Amino acid sequence: MSRTRSPIVTIDGPSGSGKGTISRAVARRTGWHLLDSGALYRLVALAGATAGLESVDERGHGEIAASMDARFGSAPDGSERVWLDGRDVTEAIRSEGAGQGASRVAAWPAVRAALLGRQRAFARSPGLVADGRDMGTVVFPGADLKIFLTATPEERALRRHKQLKDKGSDVSLPALSREIAERDLRDQTRPVAPLRPASDACVIDSTGIKIEAIVGRVLELMTARCLWP
Ligand code: C5P
Repeated sequence: MSRTRSPIVTIDGPSGSGKGTISRAVARRTGWHLLDSGALYRLVALAGATAGLESVDERGHGEIAASMDARFGSAPDGSERVWLDGRDVTEAIRSEGAGQGASRVAAWPAVRAALLGRQRAFARSPGLVADGRDMGTVVFPGADLKIFLTATPEERALRRHKQLKDKGSDVSLPALSREIAERDLRDQTRPVAPLRPASDACVIDSTGIKIEAIVGRVLELMTARCLWP
């Protein structure tokens, strides 16, 4: 079948489902581009706070989403970096606080609308792996393969806890579990682009399964659909 655009694989799911790690691994193995859409929402929240915007200012955050200078790339040592208006904010956007801020601004239609074009611009040859909450439902509804990753709330909290600890953040597991539950509820119940699997998504439960096995499953699905290699 001939294709008129580059292939797209979407990987959606709640926080701690492993979608970030798996999306990165799939992008690395295939040589495709990666869209970490959560980072865009985290950047909007950070830029809003830096500009001193009221946390309830939807229009102001929408303007920031449209105009911020967000860049994704790597440092000379090969590590992934994110810059906001020329400032390296890689670490600043990764805290659970930044995730909470992102989840608040992500509920606003003005912010989501302003980020739509930016996200779609990531779809380039040879292909795109798009990681987020609404990649398969709203941003790339015509994607060639849609994955929805889940895991039990206990396992997701443990994974996020380990990730944050590895980054030097001292956060208690019970507090983190509460924050994740709150963020998931907000993401699932918002009226615009709520977190849910697309009707044509392959749902994969990652509880107790090694990352490599899930990456292997996604690659198999890509091969079965003639997307790769
Ligand atoms: O994936 P990550 O944890 O970085 O996302 C942070 C927040 O950004 C999520 O809790 C969610 O509210 C929001 N988000 C979203 N849509 C996406 C990606 C992230 O609403 N596609």
